[in-house]
Amino acid sequence: MPGTKRILRLDASANPAESNSQKLGDYLIRQLKQANSTVETRTRNLNQELSFVDSNWIAANFTAREERNADQSARLEFSDQLITELNWADHIVLTTPMYNFGVPATLKAWIDMVCRAGVTFRYGANGAEGLLKAKRVDIVVTTGGAPLHSPADFVSGYLKHVFAFIGIDDVNIIGADQMNVDAQASFARATAQIEQHYPAVAA
Ligand SMILES: Cc1cc2nc3c(=O)[nH]c(=O)nc-3n(C[C@H](O)[C@H](O)[C@H](O)COP(=O)(O)O)c2cc1C
Repeated sequence: MPGTKRILRLDASANPAESNSQKLGDYLIRQLKQANSTVETRTRNLNQELSFVDSNWIAANFTAREERNADQSARLEFSDQLITELNWADHIVLTTPMYNFGVPATLKAWIDMVCRAGVTFRYGANGAEGLLKAKRVDIVVTTGGAPLHSPADFVSGYLKHVFAFIGIDDVNIIGADQMNVDAQASFARATAQIEQHYPAVAA
């Protein structure tokens, strides 16, 4: 339907039943739905259907599409599917905890599947060029003790860089950091950031 907002939701917490980042993602999507009359949402739990880059995957990706054999095409199928989802969406909501100062391995595996030479980025005369266009990303990041944007934060800057690399510059980080210090204050900070971007619409 024209005018429909297409939201791809990606959840990276390994603990979905009690995930604070997912609770905040739920809230963000509720606010987005209020602000947009027609919203279509697809959700991907990054803990399911994992796939990692290996030598066969790399060889397949560096073989021209029309020259790939059936095995090579099959090896790229999951990556193709993830990129199709990204292309479909005009708004991405990513929820992720910090694990050991970086992103969960599941999220890194997703990143490795969607950063595809010749598909989502290419190198030209001016260096790297991202090939995805006109998309916004909201990223909810939770941490236990590390303050976001501190030297211990290898999540927010990294994710901004990766999305810009594939062409998505409109990246908004919603921080619910230091949950183990004061969870209530963390939630309050994050919900205030969400409401600042997506204010509730009066009925
Ligand atoms: C395996 C693991 C590693 C973690 N590593 C860190 C870390 O390096 N720094 C930090 O501040 N918090 C760390 N935490 C705490 C989580 O980031 C925090 O509990 C977060 O709120 C979890 O998000 P979730 O509730 O959405 O799963 C870690 C938690 C786990 C389970």
